[in-house]
Amino acid sequence: MALLFSLAAVAATLSSSVSAAATSGDLNILSFNVAGLPAILNDNAVPGDKATNAEHFNYHAYIYATDDHSYRTATSGGAAIGSGLNTLSNFDWIDFAREKWGTCSDASGADCLTPKGFTFMRLIVEEDAGTEAGDEVARAANLQQVADYIDTWSIGNSVVVYGDTNSRYTRSADGITVFETQNGLTDGFVQLEKGGVNPTVETICDNPSLINTCETVDKVLYRGSKQLSLEATYFNYESSKFLQSDGSILSDHNPITVNFTWAVSSTRRQSGFWGGPHGNWFNDLESLPATPKASVLSFRGGSRLDSVGLTLTSGTTLTHGGTGGTAASLTLGSSEYWVTAKLCQGQKSGQTRNFYILATTSLGRTLAAGTSTSDCATFSAPSGWQIVGFMGQDGDEMDQLAFIYAPK
Ligand SMILES: *[C@@H]1O[C@H](CO)[C@@H](O)[C@H](O)[C@H]1NC(C)=O
Repeated sequence: MALLFSLAAVAATLSSSVSAAATSGDLNILSFNVAGLPAILNDNAVPGDKATNAEHFNYHAYIYATDDHSYRTATSGGAAIGSGLNTLSNFDWIDFAREKWGTCSDASGADCLTPKGFTFMRLIVEEDAGTEAGDEVARAANLQQVADYIDTWSIGNSVVVYGDTNSRYTRSADGITVFETQNGLTDGFVQLEKGGVNPTVETICDNPSLINTCETVDKVLYRGSKQLSLEATYFNYESSKFLQSDGSILSDHNPITVNFTWAVSSTRRQSGFWGGPHGNWFNDLESLPATPKASVLSFRGGSRLDSVGLTLTSGTTLTHGGTGGTAASLTLGSSEYWVTAKLCQGQKSGQTRNFYILATTSLGRTLAAGTSTSDCATFSAPSGWQIVGFMGQDGDEMDQLAFIYAPK
């Protein structure tokens, strides 16, 4: 019996402010429910219930002792303490968060004893880039919670959701289609093994499964964005790669792989982030007209950076942050572009925020707001590109900020 219902969501966004940086590549997901793992992997086999605190803890330790991924989440503890969800990655990330389910059920066991949920991260698939991911649990209320989380925290971004959803398309009450209907995600299994049609007849997988056309409750779902396209190219049950030496299975779930290719858009890119992941997520990517150009920069600042804003030549106004501080603005000429932004961050109430912005145009004119610190980063649009919008997190000040680039 699997103790953990885990569903991991990874939302990828990408930037290309470094001209030599890669503009396309691979991203491969392996999702494996390990909670049902036999105790044989421990030197002292634990009799009885496999889902004990010790086994959880030992299992994480075992994986980490033999794993060589560069980036790994810190484990959150054994059952009753931790969610059991972990991500091992060749890509770095920012903004990692563990979220608990708002609803749990003890109807079929001790589902509420351990703080199950999902994790979230912004995965960086390229230098100067950001991404996001989350992991989570099943059943309609839980899937709805993840779908709503994606709507809030991944606006405008590419998203990959992966893990054990405990759901099948043939059980409509499970609500697994919420990711398709609410978030615009595609299921790699449905796309590559079912001709794009959600299964209507239940096909339970053997374990290990020697075919790919049966449906399991573990899923990998995804969408691209206006800045980073994602395309699933390969789906497989990797069961034969995860067997014990005597040929028996390691887990009561088949591990699944979905391979992706990603590519940056020819019309939208982004900078890296500066500041801290506090406040509400925003992203101007979906609000930009086809050929955006800044006509007025509008900032507010005082002891810190209160807000950033842009009026585009289309008339679209983009504003983020609060109304405090002193307003400053700069009107750009018809052939003048915003090309560089320097941000400085600092600590306020124990959290990192942006304290200062200095914008420089293609004619060398500048607009500044806030108070400079010693912890600064400068983001420049690639040659031939300009800054046309923002993404990040804000409250009544600018917590976290990145810039959207478009061709001039
Ligand atoms: C899928 O990705 C895995 C892991 O990177 C790789 O070993 C495998 O060859 C890929 N399969 C295909 C068909 O691209």
